[in-house]
Amino acid sequence: MNTPILDKEKCTACGLCAEVCGLDVIARNGDGHPIINPAAYCHACGHCVAICPQNALSIREIGSDAFAPMPASNISSTDMEAFLLTKRSCREFKDRPVEKAVIEQLIDVARMAPTAINCQERVFIVVTDQVKITELRMALTKHARSMLKLIKLGASKPASLFLSSDTHAHMHHLQADFEVALRHMDDGGDYIFHYAPCLIFFAGITMDPAGRDHALGAQHYLMLYAETMGLGTSINGYAQSAPKVLAKHLDVPEAYTIYGAITLGYRKYTYRRRVHREPALTVYHE
Ligand SMILES: Cc1cc2nc3c(=O)[nH]c(=O)nc-3n(C[C@H](O)[C@H](O)[C@H](O)COP(=O)(O)O)c2cc1C
Repeated sequence: MNTPILDKEKCTACGLCAEVCGLDVIARNGDGHPIINPAAYCHACGHCVAICPQNALSIREIGSDAFAPMPASNISSTDMEAFLLTKRSCREFKDRPVEKAVIEQLIDVARMAPTAINCQERVFIVVTDQVKITELRMALTKHARSMLKLIKLGASKPASLFLSSDTHAHMHHLQADFEVALRHMDDGGDYIFHYAPCLIFFAGITMDPAGRDHALGAQHYLMLYAETMGLGTSINGYAQSAPKVLAKHLDVPEAYTIYGAITLGYRKYTYRRRVHREPALTVYHE
């Protein structure tokens, strides 16, 4: 059990722990003191420990180091906006491996991405072995070739009779993209991984309806953090859409499925202008 432990000597009955407890673990008694229900189910989210001004709470199974004081963060919304509006997918990498210590640092931050019921069930699979990358590239190219046959059916005229116009148009885009990719691959280029020195895959529990979210949350944390180190990333749709192919070539733990895949390497170029996107399609119920 992860039940929080209260140091009554330190507690001033401010009530913050009960207020932030998302479950029924902490309530308050008549004089405002917290009452901890040892039988209640606890996620060990640590909100109670992290908010207590008196450091009066702890969780036995989680060492106090995990609850080190909040690091200073002075990111303004202007800085954050600038960061997000200048982040681009990267397909041109320096001929430089990504150091293992750096990969570990990235994963150490990515593992902080939230998970449902704080289960933290996700696996990171890192590939820097170039032989393995070539093996994956070949397998995904083969898979893309068979996908293209299906995509062409979806982009065909008869398919327009039963697909929505948006889906049908999307099939056309996919067909064009796959055809370019396969042409480059046939010419001996690497349109799948763009010669990235490192691939990272993100897996979640197959049977968990939130397994994909757990994988992709970590993926996005890692991708954003990587930018701060001169690294560039790109989501890899060819790999993400072929988890069964990946499972034949990678050590994916039983019960897990790969939902996220990225290429990673040191950026060769930096961009001079911000990201352009179409205006957001937004629906309000006000
Ligand atoms: C789900 C998903 C799959 C993607 N797959 C690929 C891919 O296989 N190869 C690639 O080079 N880029 C891929 N991308 C990157 C997009 O092409 C890119 O995000 C888009 O063109 C906008 O460019 P930007 O990210 O630089 O703003 C993918 C992006 C997403 C969200």
